[in-house]
Amino acid sequence: MSRERDAVLCEMGLGPIWKLREQTAETVPAAATPAVVRVSVSEADTPPPPAAMAEGAPPDHDVPLDAYAFDSRPDDDDEDATPTVDDRAARIAAMDWVELKQSVAECRACELCKQRKQAVLGVGDVNADWLVVGEGPGADEDERGEPFVGAAGKLLDAMLDAIGLKRGKDVYIANSVKCRPPGNRTPEAAEINACAPYLQRQIALLQPRLVIALGRPAAQTLLGREVKIGEARGKLHAHRDIPLIVTYHPAYLLRTLPDKAKAWEDLVFARRTMQKLKNS
Ligand code: URA
Repeated sequence: MSRERDAVLCEMGLGPIWKLREQTAETVPAAATPAVVRVSVSEADTPPPPAAMAEGAPPDHDVPLDAYAFDSRPDDDDEDATPTVDDRAARIAAMDWVELKQSVAECRACELCKQRKQAVLGVGDVNADWLVVGEGPGADEDERGEPFVGAAGKLLDAMLDAIGLKRGKDVYIANSVKCRPPGNRTPEAAEINACAPYLQRQIALLQPRLVIALGRPAAQTLLGREVKIGEARGKLHAHRDIPLIVTYHPAYLLRTLPDKAKAWEDLVFARRTMQKLKNS
């Protein structure tokens, strides 16, 4: 395992940086698999649970708690419910990939459209088993129209490579919001909500076996609750009935080198989980 791990670390260009901690008696098994997830992941398969993010360490992102659009439902007896919002969600929910791309390109549902160069729907294999969800396009992505093509994207590619995945092959990469937040700020609740039907439709079309949420905004958007990455990682969650694993955002990892070791553990966990899902 350690040879394999070392090789993978080197592949990721992280050999000298990552120091995996030994499992100690203090480590506790990861949380049980949620009932909705039909795969069993034994304790031995889970990395040691993380310590909570170090006291005083900056969280990787902050997203307000009302940013969770996925489980919001129109209120049946609310006559003032805005039918245009529901109509839009329903229209998006019926789109195919071509229509989705066109719709995202023309979207004016939130303020982010004003400063974008282009909307960035996502990239990859539409028959993929893996779905990776990030936060939102940055300057490079806004310029090129593809997610994760800047510095964080290079690290993401290396991370994928480390578990045998290549951009475009058996993996699809998307973001919580499709337009660049100005100055690369964290997307606001209203922006995440406005974009949620697109991500929802992508997930419905893809039907991935496993979702990896990169960073807090993606995790919160997909899990519909407040998430601390340090607490949520190392466990198997579910978005609706799709297994979901949470890990650090590559941009955060570029700033916080020691946490790359934890991200590696998360990737190993994800790879094993996928294996089990395929065998189940
Ligand atoms: N960060 C993200 O979350 N997504 C991108 O596409 C690029 C950087």
